Amino acid sequence: MDKITSLAKRRGFVFQSSEIYGGQNGAWDYGPLGVELKNRIAAAWWKEMTQLNDDIAGLDAAILMHPRTWEASGHVENFTDPLVDCKKCKSRFRADQIPQENIKEKKCPECSGELTDTRKFNLMFKTNIGPAEDSASIIYLRPETAQGIYVNYKNIIQSNRMKIPFGIAQIGKAFRNEIVTKNFIFRTCEFEQMEMQFFVKPGTDEQWFDEWRRRRWAYYEKMGVKTDNLRWHRHGPDELAHYAKDAYDIEYLFPMGWRELEGVHNRSDYDLGRHAQYSGKDMQYIDQDNNNDRYTPFIIETSAGLTRTLLMILCDAYDEETVASGANSGSSSETQSEAGELRTVLRFHPRLAPITVAVLPLMKKDGLAEMAQDIRRELKEDFAVDFDQAGAIGRRYRRQDEAGTPFCVTIDYQSKEDKTVTLRFRDSMEQERVPIAKLATKLQQEIKAYRRKL
Ligand code: GAP
Repeated sequence: MDKITSLAKRRGFVFQSSEIYGGQNGAWDYGPLGVELKNRIAAAWWKEMTQLNDDIAGLDAAILMHPRTWEASGHVENFTDPLVDCKKCKSRFRADQIPQENIKEKKCPECSGELTDTRKFNLMFKTNIGPAEDSASIIYLRPETAQGIYVNYKNIIQSNRMKIPFGIAQIGKAFRNEIVTKNFIFRTCEFEQMEMQFFVKPGTDEQWFDEWRRRRWAYYEKMGVKTDNLRWHRHGPDELAHYAKDAYDIEYLFPMGWRELEGVHNRSDYDLGRHAQYSGKDMQYIDQDNNNDRYTPFIIETSAGLTRTLLMILCDAYDEETVASGANSGSSSETQSEAGELRTVLRFHPRLAPITVAVLPLMKKDGLAEMAQDIRRELKEDFAVDFDQAGAIGRRYRRQDEAGTPFCVTIDYQSKEDKTVTLRFRDSMEQERVPIAKLATKLQQEIKAYRRKL
Protein backbone atom coordinates (compact mmCIF):
# COMPACT_ATOMS: atom_id res chain seq x y z
CA MET A 1 0.00 0.00 0.00
CA ASP A 2 2.92 2.37 0.71
CA LYS A 3 4.02 2.21 -2.94
CA ILE A 4 0.51 3.00 -4.14
CA THR A 5 0.06 5.84 -1.65
CA SER A 6 3.34 7.44 -2.65
CA LEU A 7 2.68 7.03 -6.40
CA ALA A 8 -0.81 8.51 -5.88
CA LYS A 9 0.67 11.59 -4.26
CA ARG A 10 3.68 11.94 -6.55
CA ARG A 11 1.60 11.78 -9.72
CA GLY A 12 -1.35 13.83 -8.46
CA PHE A 13 -4.01 11.17 -7.98
CA VAL A 14 -4.74 11.71 -4.27
CA PHE A 15 -3.52 14.26 -1.72
CA GLN A 16 -4.09 14.40 2.01
CA SER A 17 -6.82 16.92 2.84
CA SER A 18 -5.58 20.22 4.37
CA GLU A 19 -2.00 18.94 4.27
CA ILE A 20 -0.46 22.32 5.08
CA TYR A 21 -2.26 22.22 8.45
CA GLY A 22 -1.02 18.73 9.25
CA GLY A 23 -3.82 16.93 7.39
CA GLN A 24 -7.43 16.11 8.17
CA ASN A 25 -8.11 12.51 9.19
CA GLY A 26 -10.67 10.66 7.09
CA ALA A 27 -10.67 13.16 4.21
CA TRP A 28 -8.70 13.19 0.95
CA ASP A 29 -8.41 15.43 -2.09
CA TYR A 30 -8.35 14.13 -5.66
CA GLY A 31 -5.70 15.77 -7.83
CA PRO A 32 -5.67 16.23 -11.62
CA LEU A 33 -5.21 12.53 -12.47
CA GLY A 34 -7.35 11.36 -9.53
CA VAL A 35 -10.39 13.43 -10.41
CA GLU A 36 -10.22 12.21 -14.03
CA LEU A 37 -9.98 8.60 -12.86
CA LYS A 38 -12.85 9.06 -10.38
CA ASN A 39 -15.03 10.71 -13.01
CA ARG A 40 -14.35 7.89 -15.45
CA ILE A 41 -15.14 5.17 -12.91
CA ALA A 42 -18.38 6.99 -12.12
CA ALA A 43 -19.19 7.43 -15.83
CA ALA A 44 -18.56 3.72 -16.55
CA TRP A 45 -20.87 2.69 -13.69
CA TRP A 46 -23.51 5.24 -14.72
CA LYS A 47 -23.44 4.02 -18.33
CA GLU A 48 -23.70 0.41 -17.20
CA MET A 49 -26.70 1.14 -15.00
CA THR A 50 -28.69 3.75 -16.92
CA GLN A 51 -27.67 3.61 -20.60
CA LEU A 52 -27.41 -0.16 -20.87
CA ASN A 53 -30.55 -0.88 -18.81
CA ASP A 54 -33.86 0.45 -20.16
CA ASP A 55 -35.51 -0.08 -16.78
CA ILE A 56 -33.13 2.01 -14.61
CA ALA A 57 -33.52 5.77 -14.20
CA GLY A 58 -31.04 8.20 -12.62
CA LEU A 59 -31.41 10.54 -9.66
CA ASP A 60 -29.33 13.12 -7.80
CA ALA A 61 -30.94 13.70 -4.41
CA ALA A 62 -29.83 16.23 -1.77
CA ILE A 63 -27.29 15.32 0.89
CA LEU A 64 -29.37 17.07 3.57
CA MET A 65 -32.67 15.28 4.13
CA HIS A 66 -35.53 15.70 6.57
CA PRO A 67 -34.27 14.27 9.89
CA ARG A 68 -37.30 11.95 10.13
CA THR A 69 -35.75 10.09 7.15
CA TRP A 70 -33.05 8.74 9.44
CA GLU A 71 -35.47 7.76 12.17
CA ALA A 72 -37.52 5.86 9.60
CA SER A 73 -34.46 4.23 8.02
CA GLY A 74 -33.32 2.96 11.42
CA HIS A 75 -30.02 4.86 11.28
CA VAL A 76 -30.69 7.01 14.37
CA GLU A 77 -31.26 3.87 16.41
CA ASN A 78 -29.04 1.27 14.75
CA PHE A 79 -26.22 2.86 12.78
CA THR A 80 -23.67 2.44 15.54
CA ASP A 81 -20.25 0.93 16.07
CA PRO A 82 -19.04 -0.42 19.43
CA LEU A 83 -16.30 1.85 20.77
CA VAL A 84 -13.65 1.43 23.49
CA ASP A 85 -10.89 3.82 24.62
CA CYS A 86 -7.61 3.14 26.38
CA LYS A 87 -7.42 5.18 29.57
CA LYS A 88 -3.60 5.10 29.44
CA CYS A 89 -2.47 5.68 25.83
CA LYS A 90 -5.81 7.25 24.71
CA SER A 91 -6.00 4.99 21.64
CA ARG A 92 -9.52 4.39 20.34
CA PHE A 93 -10.70 1.05 18.90
CA ARG A 94 -13.75 -0.54 17.37
CA ALA A 95 -14.56 -3.25 19.92
CA ASP A 96 -15.43 -5.70 17.12
CA GLN A 97 -12.04 -5.22 15.45
CA ILE A 98 -9.71 -6.12 18.33
CA PRO A 99 -9.25 -9.58 19.94
CA GLN A 100 -12.22 -10.38 22.20
CA GLU A 101 -9.76 -11.39 24.98
CA ASN A 102 -8.74 -7.72 25.22
CA ILE A 103 -12.39 -6.69 25.59
CA LYS A 104 -13.02 -9.33 28.27
CA GLU A 105 -9.87 -8.43 30.21
CA LYS A 106 -10.30 -4.70 29.46
CA LYS A 107 -6.68 -4.64 28.27
CA CYS A 108 -5.43 -2.27 25.57
CA PRO A 109 -3.93 -4.23 22.61
CA GLU A 110 -1.28 -1.53 22.18
CA CYS A 111 -0.03 -0.60 25.68
CA SER A 112 -1.87 -3.09 27.96
CA GLY A 113 -3.48 -0.13 29.75
CA GLU A 114 -7.07 -0.30 31.02
CA LEU A 115 -9.88 -0.10 28.44
CA THR A 116 -13.19 1.69 29.07
CA ASP A 117 -16.52 -0.18 28.88
CA THR A 118 -17.79 -0.69 25.35
CA ARG A 119 -20.26 1.98 24.31
CA LYS A 120 -22.31 2.49 21.19
CA PHE A 121 -21.24 5.29 18.90
CA ASN A 122 -23.55 6.60 16.16
CA LEU A 123 -21.71 7.09 12.88
CA MET A 124 -23.91 9.86 11.51
CA PHE A 125 -22.52 13.39 11.36
CA LYS A 126 -24.94 15.74 13.04
CA THR A 127 -25.15 19.48 12.44
CA ASN A 128 -27.72 22.27 12.72
CA ILE A 129 -29.66 23.94 9.98
CA GLY A 130 -30.44 27.63 10.39
CA PRO A 131 -29.02 29.97 13.03
CA ALA A 132 -30.39 28.23 16.14
CA GLU A 133 -28.37 25.36 17.59
CA ASP A 134 -31.20 23.49 19.32
CA SER A 135 -32.73 20.04 19.01
CA ALA A 136 -35.33 21.32 16.53
CA SER A 137 -32.61 22.32 14.06
CA ILE A 138 -30.66 19.04 14.04
CA ILE A 139 -29.90 17.69 10.59
CA TYR A 140 -27.64 14.85 9.43
CA LEU A 141 -25.17 14.45 6.61
CA ARG A 142 -26.45 11.37 4.79
CA PRO A 143 -24.55 8.16 5.66
CA GLU A 144 -25.79 6.43 2.48
CA THR A 145 -27.31 7.72 -0.75
CA ALA A 146 -30.02 5.03 -0.77
CA GLN A 147 -32.60 6.91 1.31
CA GLY A 148 -32.76 9.75 -1.24
CA ILE A 149 -33.92 7.11 -3.72
CA TYR A 150 -36.60 5.59 -1.45
CA VAL A 151 -38.23 8.94 -0.64
CA ASN A 152 -38.36 9.72 -4.40
CA TYR A 153 -39.51 6.35 -5.73
CA LYS A 154 -43.13 7.45 -6.19
CA ASN A 155 -42.04 10.69 -7.92
CA ILE A 156 -40.02 8.64 -10.39
CA ILE A 157 -42.82 6.17 -11.06
CA GLN A 158 -45.13 9.08 -11.82
CA SER A 159 -42.74 11.29 -13.81
CA ASN A 160 -41.17 8.47 -15.84
CA ARG A 161 -44.08 6.00 -15.99
CA MET A 162 -41.83 3.26 -14.57
CA LYS A 163 -43.25 -0.22 -14.07
CA ILE A 164 -42.01 -2.82 -11.66
CA PRO A 165 -39.41 -4.28 -11.94
CA PHE A 166 -37.36 -1.10 -12.31
CA GLY A 167 -34.35 0.57 -10.74
CA ILE A 168 -33.07 3.98 -9.68
CA ALA A 169 -29.34 4.76 -9.76
CA GLN A 170 -27.48 7.49 -7.94
CA ILE A 171 -23.89 8.59 -7.36
CA GLY A 172 -23.07 10.98 -4.55
CA LYS A 173 -21.27 11.86 -1.36
CA ALA A 174 -21.92 10.08 1.91
CA PHE A 175 -20.48 10.79 5.35
CA ARG A 176 -19.70 8.54 8.30
CA ASN A 177 -17.94 9.44 11.50
CA GLU A 178 -15.70 6.38 11.27
CA ILE A 179 -13.80 5.46 14.44
CA VAL A 180 -10.87 3.97 12.58
CA THR A 181 -9.74 5.48 9.27
CA LYS A 182 -6.64 3.85 7.90
CA ASN A 183 -5.42 2.16 4.73
CA PHE A 184 -5.34 5.34 2.67
CA ILE A 185 -8.74 6.05 1.04
CA PHE A 186 -10.27 2.66 1.91
CA ARG A 187 -12.37 3.85 4.85
CA THR A 188 -12.90 7.59 5.12
CA CYS A 189 -15.36 9.94 6.80
CA GLU A 190 -16.27 11.65 3.53
CA PHE A 191 -16.63 9.35 0.54
CA GLU A 192 -18.76 8.69 -2.52
CA GLN A 193 -21.15 5.88 -3.25
CA MET A 194 -22.62 4.46 -6.47
CA GLU A 195 -25.91 2.88 -5.48
CA MET A 196 -28.73 1.29 -7.46
CA GLN A 197 -32.02 0.28 -5.89
CA PHE A 198 -34.09 -2.22 -7.90
CA PHE A 199 -37.82 -2.39 -7.01
CA VAL A 200 -39.40 -5.82 -7.47
CA LYS A 201 -42.58 -7.72 -6.68
CA PRO A 202 -42.39 -9.63 -3.37
CA GLY A 203 -41.75 -13.29 -4.13
CA THR A 204 -39.49 -12.43 -7.09
CA ASP A 205 -36.84 -10.85 -4.83
CA GLU A 206 -34.61 -13.90 -4.46
CA GLN A 207 -34.44 -14.42 -8.20
CA TRP A 208 -33.57 -10.71 -8.76
CA PHE A 209 -31.03 -10.86 -5.95
CA ASP A 210 -29.21 -13.69 -7.77
CA GLU A 211 -29.50 -11.83 -11.07
CA TRP A 212 -27.91 -8.66 -9.67
CA ARG A 213 -25.14 -10.65 -8.07
CA ARG A 214 -24.41 -12.14 -11.50
CA ARG A 215 -24.51 -8.75 -13.24
CA ARG A 216 -22.23 -7.03 -10.75
CA TRP A 217 -19.58 -9.75 -11.01
CA ALA A 218 -19.76 -9.58 -14.82
CA TYR A 219 -19.29 -5.81 -14.63
CA TYR A 220 -15.94 -6.09 -12.83
CA GLU A 221 -14.82 -8.68 -15.39
CA LYS A 222 -15.78 -6.28 -18.17
CA MET A 223 -13.76 -3.48 -16.52
CA GLY A 224 -10.72 -5.74 -16.73
CA VAL A 225 -10.36 -6.32 -12.97
CA LYS A 226 -8.34 -9.47 -12.16
CA THR A 227 -11.06 -11.86 -11.04
CA ASP A 228 -8.56 -13.90 -8.98
CA ASN A 229 -8.58 -10.88 -6.67
CA LEU A 230 -12.38 -10.95 -6.27
CA ARG A 231 -14.54 -13.23 -4.18
CA TRP A 232 -18.01 -13.39 -2.64
CA HIS A 233 -18.67 -13.18 1.07
CA ARG A 234 -22.16 -13.95 2.33
CA HIS A 235 -23.20 -12.13 5.51
CA GLY A 236 -23.90 -14.40 8.48
CA PRO A 237 -26.90 -13.67 10.75
CA ASP A 238 -24.76 -11.56 13.11
CA GLU A 239 -23.34 -9.47 10.21
CA LEU A 240 -26.62 -8.58 8.45
CA ALA A 241 -27.51 -4.87 8.54
CA HIS A 242 -30.77 -3.99 10.28
CA TYR A 243 -32.57 -3.72 6.92
CA ALA A 244 -31.21 -6.82 5.20
CA LYS A 245 -32.94 -10.11 4.48
CA ASP A 246 -29.83 -11.41 2.70
CA ALA A 247 -26.51 -9.81 1.74
CA TYR A 248 -23.35 -10.66 -0.15
CA ASP A 249 -20.22 -8.55 -0.41
CA ILE A 250 -17.93 -8.59 -3.39
CA GLU A 251 -14.53 -8.57 -1.70
CA TYR A 252 -11.24 -7.53 -3.28
CA LEU A 253 -7.78 -8.67 -2.26
CA PHE A 254 -6.33 -5.27 -1.25
CA PRO A 255 -2.69 -5.09 -0.07
CA MET A 256 -3.98 -5.32 3.55
CA GLY A 257 -6.08 -8.43 2.76
CA TRP A 258 -9.61 -9.30 1.58
CA ARG A 259 -11.98 -6.38 2.17
CA GLU A 260 -15.48 -5.37 1.09
CA LEU A 261 -15.69 -3.56 -2.23
CA GLU A 262 -19.42 -3.62 -2.92
CA GLY A 263 -22.53 -4.94 -1.20
CA VAL A 264 -25.49 -6.59 -2.91
CA HIS A 265 -28.41 -6.54 -0.48
CA ASN A 266 -31.94 -7.87 -0.39
CA ARG A 267 -33.49 -5.06 1.69
CA SER A 268 -36.98 -6.65 1.56
CA ASP A 269 -39.85 -4.15 2.05
CA TYR A 270 -38.16 -2.75 5.16
CA ASP A 271 -37.31 0.73 3.84
CA LEU A 272 -40.55 1.52 2.02
CA GLY A 273 -42.57 0.04 4.89
CA ARG A 274 -40.78 2.24 7.41
CA HIS A 275 -41.12 5.39 5.28
CA ALA A 276 -44.86 4.68 4.93
CA GLN A 277 -45.09 4.34 8.71
CA TYR A 278 -43.07 7.48 9.54
CA SER A 279 -44.39 9.78 6.78
CA GLY A 280 -47.99 8.58 6.80
CA LYS A 281 -47.80 8.41 2.98
CA ASP A 282 -48.84 5.40 0.95
CA MET A 283 -45.67 3.82 -0.44
CA GLN A 284 -47.43 0.90 -2.13
CA TYR A 285 -47.11 0.20 -5.82
CA ILE A 286 -50.32 -0.09 -7.84
CA ASP A 287 -49.94 -2.69 -10.56
CA GLN A 288 -52.19 -1.34 -13.32
CA ASP A 289 -51.48 -4.34 -15.53
CA ASN A 290 -52.75 -6.72 -12.84
CA ASN A 291 -56.18 -5.57 -11.65
CA ASN A 292 -54.62 -2.66 -9.71
CA ASP A 293 -52.94 -5.11 -7.35
CA ARG A 294 -51.26 -3.21 -4.48
CA TYR A 295 -48.09 -4.20 -2.72
CA THR A 296 -44.98 -2.74 -1.08
CA PRO A 297 -42.08 -3.59 -3.39
CA PHE A 298 -38.99 -5.43 -2.19
CA ILE A 299 -35.68 -3.73 -2.94
CA ILE A 300 -32.51 -5.29 -4.26
CA GLU A 301 -29.62 -2.91 -3.70
CA THR A 302 -26.18 -2.82 -5.29
CA SER A 303 -23.96 -0.46 -3.31
CA ALA A 304 -20.35 0.29 -4.23
CA GLY A 305 -18.02 2.93 -2.88
CA LEU A 306 -16.73 5.14 -5.70
CA THR A 307 -13.63 6.22 -3.80
CA ARG A 308 -13.07 2.65 -2.60
CA THR A 309 -13.43 1.43 -6.20
CA LEU A 310 -10.79 3.98 -7.19
CA LEU A 311 -8.42 2.47 -4.62
CA MET A 312 -9.21 -1.01 -5.93
CA ILE A 313 -8.57 0.11 -9.53
CA LEU A 314 -5.22 1.63 -8.49
CA CYS A 315 -4.19 -1.57 -6.65
CA ASP A 316 -5.37 -3.80 -9.49
CA ALA A 317 -3.61 -1.73 -12.14
CA TYR A 318 -0.31 -1.33 -10.28
CA ASP A 319 2.57 -3.33 -11.73
CA GLU A 320 6.34 -3.24 -11.75
CA GLU A 321 8.46 -4.97 -14.37
CA THR A 322 11.94 -4.98 -15.77
CA VAL A 323 12.13 -3.62 -19.29
CA ALA A 324 13.49 -6.30 -21.61
CA SER A 325 15.71 -5.33 -24.53
CA GLY A 326 14.19 -5.59 -27.99
CA ALA A 327 10.66 -5.73 -26.59
CA ASN A 328 9.40 -3.64 -29.47
CA SER A 329 9.84 -3.50 -33.17
CA GLY A 330 9.39 0.22 -33.76
CA SER A 331 11.71 3.08 -34.42
CA SER A 332 11.86 4.48 -30.89
CA SER A 333 14.98 4.15 -28.81
CA GLU A 334 12.93 3.19 -25.73
CA THR A 335 14.01 -0.36 -25.17
CA GLN A 336 17.57 -0.01 -26.39
CA SER A 337 18.55 2.63 -23.86
CA GLU A 338 16.19 1.67 -21.03
CA ALA A 339 16.65 -2.12 -21.12
CA GLY A 340 17.06 -3.61 -17.65
CA GLU A 341 15.32 -0.67 -15.97
CA LEU A 342 12.46 -1.22 -13.59
CA ARG A 343 9.29 0.39 -14.86
CA THR A 344 6.20 1.14 -12.78
CA VAL A 345 3.05 0.88 -14.81
CA LEU A 346 -0.63 1.34 -14.08
CA ARG A 347 -2.52 -1.04 -16.36
CA PHE A 348 -5.83 0.84 -16.38
CA HIS A 349 -8.55 -0.13 -18.81
CA PRO A 350 -8.31 2.58 -21.55
CA ARG A 351 -11.88 3.64 -20.75
CA LEU A 352 -10.82 4.45 -17.17
CA ALA A 353 -7.32 5.84 -17.77
CA PRO A 354 -7.11 9.57 -16.87
CA ILE A 355 -5.05 10.22 -20.01
CA THR A 356 -5.96 8.14 -23.05
CA VAL A 357 -3.17 9.19 -25.37
CA ALA A 358 0.07 11.12 -24.99
CA VAL A 359 1.52 12.98 -27.98
CA LEU A 360 5.32 13.07 -27.91
CA PRO A 361 7.48 14.81 -30.55
CA LEU A 362 10.87 13.09 -30.69
CA MET A 363 12.55 16.51 -30.98
CA LYS A 364 11.37 20.06 -30.32
CA LYS A 365 13.11 21.29 -33.49
CA ASP A 366 12.75 20.77 -37.23
CA GLY A 367 8.97 21.23 -37.18
CA LEU A 368 8.31 18.03 -35.17
CA ALA A 369 6.80 19.92 -32.20
CA GLU A 370 4.47 21.87 -34.50
CA MET A 371 3.39 18.69 -36.23
CA ALA A 372 2.75 17.08 -32.83
CA GLN A 373 0.67 20.07 -31.72
CA ASP A 374 -1.51 19.69 -34.82
CA ILE A 375 -2.07 16.02 -33.98
CA ARG A 376 -2.84 16.90 -30.36
CA ARG A 377 -5.43 19.49 -31.45
CA GLU A 378 -7.04 16.96 -33.74
CA LEU A 379 -7.23 14.18 -31.12
CA LYS A 380 -8.40 16.18 -28.14
CA GLU A 381 -11.95 16.54 -29.46
CA ASP A 382 -12.42 12.80 -28.83
CA PHE A 383 -9.75 11.73 -26.35
CA ALA A 384 -8.07 12.90 -23.14
CA VAL A 385 -4.67 13.95 -24.55
CA ASP A 386 -1.41 14.87 -22.87
CA PHE A 387 1.50 16.56 -24.64
CA ASP A 388 5.06 16.07 -23.46
CA GLN A 389 8.20 17.25 -25.19
CA ALA A 390 10.57 17.36 -22.20
CA GLY A 391 13.47 14.91 -21.88
CA ALA A 392 14.50 11.63 -23.49
CA ILE A 393 11.72 9.63 -25.12
CA GLY A 394 12.28 6.66 -22.79
CA ARG A 395 11.80 8.91 -19.74
CA ARG A 396 8.61 10.28 -21.26
CA TYR A 397 7.25 6.77 -21.82
CA ARG A 398 8.03 5.94 -18.17
CA ARG A 399 6.10 9.02 -17.00
CA GLN A 400 3.11 7.99 -19.07
CA ASP A 401 3.36 4.37 -17.82
CA GLU A 402 3.14 5.64 -14.23
CA ALA A 403 0.07 7.71 -15.10
CA GLY A 404 -1.49 4.63 -16.75
CA THR A 405 -1.69 6.16 -20.26
CA PRO A 406 -2.50 3.25 -22.59
CA PHE A 407 -1.27 4.85 -25.84
CA CYS A 408 1.64 7.11 -26.79
CA VAL A 409 2.02 8.68 -30.21
CA THR A 410 5.57 9.61 -31.23
CA ILE A 411 6.28 12.03 -34.05
CA ASP A 412 9.72 11.57 -35.65
CA TYR A 413 11.56 12.49 -38.85
CA GLN A 414 9.84 9.74 -40.80
CA SER A 415 6.51 11.37 -39.86
CA LYS A 416 7.49 14.40 -41.91
CA GLU A 417 8.20 12.27 -44.92
CA ASP A 418 5.37 9.74 -44.98
CA LYS A 419 2.75 11.26 -42.60
CA THR A 420 2.85 8.32 -40.23
CA VAL A 421 3.50 8.20 -36.48
CA THR A 422 4.55 5.53 -34.00
CA LEU A 423 1.76 4.21 -31.82
CA ARG A 424 3.21 2.70 -28.66
CA PHE A 425 1.16 0.38 -26.45
CA ARG A 426 1.62 0.71 -22.69
CA ASP A 427 1.10 -2.92 -21.69
CA SER A 428 3.29 -4.68 -24.27
CA MET A 429 5.51 -1.67 -25.12
CA GLU A 430 5.09 -2.77 -28.72
CA GLN A 431 5.03 -0.13 -31.43
CA GLU A 432 3.33 0.17 -34.75
CA ARG A 433 3.42 2.79 -37.53
CA VAL A 434 0.05 4.32 -38.22
CA PRO A 435 -0.95 6.90 -40.86
CA ILE A 436 -1.90 10.16 -39.12
CA ALA A 437 -5.15 10.20 -41.08
CA LYS A 438 -6.15 6.87 -39.51
CA LEU A 439 -4.94 7.55 -35.95
CA ALA A 440 -8.26 8.49 -34.32
CA THR A 441 -10.08 5.48 -35.81
CA LYS A 442 -7.24 3.18 -34.80
CA LEU A 443 -7.40 4.45 -31.20
CA GLN A 444 -11.19 3.96 -31.06
CA GLN A 445 -10.76 0.38 -32.31
CA GLU A 446 -8.00 -0.37 -29.80
CA ILE A 447 -10.09 0.98 -26.90
CA LYS A 448 -13.09 -1.10 -27.90
CA ALA A 449 -11.04 -4.27 -28.39
CA TYR A 450 -8.97 -3.87 -25.21
CA ARG A 451 -8.60 -7.00 -23.10
CA ARG A 452 -6.20 -7.06 -20.22
CA LYS A 453 -3.54 -9.75 -20.65
CA LEU A 454 -1.03 -8.87 -17.92
N1 GAP B 1 -26.75 1.56 1.22
C1 GAP B 1 -26.06 0.45 1.75
C2 GAP B 1 -24.75 0.79 2.27
O1 GAP B 1 -24.40 1.94 2.43
P1 GAP B 1 -22.53 -0.28 3.15
O2 GAP B 1 -22.06 -1.70 3.08
O3 GAP B 1 -22.53 0.39 4.47
O4 GAP B 1 -24.00 -0.31 2.54
C3 GAP B 1 -21.69 0.28 0.76
O5 GAP B 1 -21.70 0.60 2.13
C4 GAP B 1 -20.33 0.54 0.15
O6 GAP B 1 -19.93 1.88 0.41
C5 GAP B 1 -19.22 -0.32 0.73
O7 GAP B 1 -19.15 -1.57 0.09
C6 GAP B 1 -17.99 0.52 0.45
O8 GAP B 1 -17.55 0.32 -0.88
C7 GAP B 1 -18.53 1.94 0.58
N2 GAP B 1 -18.22 2.49 1.92
C8 GAP B 1 -18.90 2.32 3.06
N3 GAP B 1 -18.33 2.99 4.08
C9 GAP B 1 -17.26 3.62 3.56
C10 GAP B 1 -16.25 4.48 4.10
N4 GAP B 1 -16.26 4.85 5.37
N5 GAP B 1 -15.29 4.93 3.27
C11 GAP B 1 -15.26 4.58 1.95
N6 GAP B 1 -16.19 3.77 1.40
C12 GAP B 1 -17.17 3.30 2.18
